Amino acid sequence: MTKPSIASFHSVSKHYGTHCALRDFDLEPREGELLSLLGPSGCGKTTVLRLLAGFETPDSGEILLDGRTLAGVPPEARDVNTVFQSYALFPHLSVFENVAFGLRMRKLGGAEIRERTESALRMVRMEGLGGRRPLQLSGGQQQRVALARALVNRPRVLLLDECLSALDYRLRREMQMELKELQRQTGITFVFVTHDREEALSISDRIAVMRDGRIEQLGAPRDIYERPANLFVAQFAGESNVLEATVTAVTGPDTLTVDLAGTPLAVQSGRHFGIGEKVALLLRPEDLHVHDGANGDGGLAGRVLERTYRGVTLDTLIALDAGPRIKASEFFREDAPALDHPPGQRVRVSWTPGWEIVLAHDAEA
Ligand SMILES: Nc1ncnc2c1ncn2[C@@H]1O[C@H](COP(=O)(O)OP(=O)(O)OP(=O)(O)O)[C@@H](O)[C@H]1O
Ligand SMILES: [Mg+2]
Repeated sequence: MTKPSIASFHSVSKHYGTHCALRDFDLEPREGELLSLLGPSGCGKTTVLRLLAGFETPDSGEILLDGRTLAGVPPEARDVNTVFQSYALFPHLSVFENVAFGLRMRKLGGAEIRERTESALRMVRMEGLGGRRPLQLSGGQQQRVALARALVNRPRVLLLDECLSALDYRLRREMQMELKELQRQTGITFVFVTHDREEALSISDRIAVMRDGRIEQLGAPRDIYERPANLFVAQFAGESNVLEATVTAVTGPDTLTVDLAGTPLAVQSGRHFGIGEKVALLLRPEDLHVHDGANGDGGLAGRVLERTYRGVTLDTLIALDAGPRIKASEFFREDAPALDHPPGQRVRVSWTPGWEIVLAHDAEA
């Protein structure tokens, strides 16, 4: 069952001078979900968080929290907290006092402050380190303190702005899982900003893919990856081969023939295209198989340019006879050792029929 929304942006626009950072923006984070905003630098992700937190005001439109308008409500009176990329901890205060700071400002009683601060430190697995100063902590530990400092207020919505991007790869992966776990445990709505697609795909309940102050697609990670609404989303959500083709025949309700630089190719698509229309044929590298020999049916013929060993996968770069280059990432399998296709070898590239994605050609993407 779909959960009710906890906050909403209705037709919100925001300019900085003449620059339009958000245009006619609609978004409804739901009760208890982890919603990611994913998009390139400058697309407006931070602006969305700053508007919800009250550090910016919209030019037009309306923002609600728990059904009440936030117009005129100052940041400190909003039931939201933000965790920034720079943890912004107070260096002269202990970990405990950093976390307790918000509660002291609200003049809560000593016993309650102690109990809530300790509970927040336990949540991020930092119990026992309350006496340290931030500079005596690792990057990952500082990040946990910043999280505890936000969670201690038990906000309705927690805003996280690229908060893991200062961490190295392994720690970052670890913290992603912890964050997801923390979100489940607390049931607090997280709005999580990132430009890292793997991060967004692996932890989110839903992802809003943004471009130029708008949402291009909003959906579950799987929808975004497997059923991208357009070429921009497809390319932003994952590595992909994009081949330009022209529709030459509509052969059924879901089937088309396209021409790829002289090679006819039968493809499937739920979308409707007209004969002569230019389309983008999208093939994910991990969906492709490379076979020896250029003869045979199905798939596309080409010549191997390069092989790259990547541990989990073996990547092959192929120059198709039809022109473009295409990359295949094949997983190693015990029972079927990957064939070696040395550079120069003639090969065919195939994939499971229907796994191709056919999208409208988009000059901007
Ligand atoms: N205070 C400001 N004054 C002027 N322009 C701004 C201001 N803040 C943001 N912008 C501009 O508005 C646009 C959106 O900025 P925003 O910070 O929301 O992007 P972002 O998606 O968070 O990008 P990044 O991934 O780089 O953090 C950008 O083009 C940015 O340059
Ligand atoms: Mg930003």
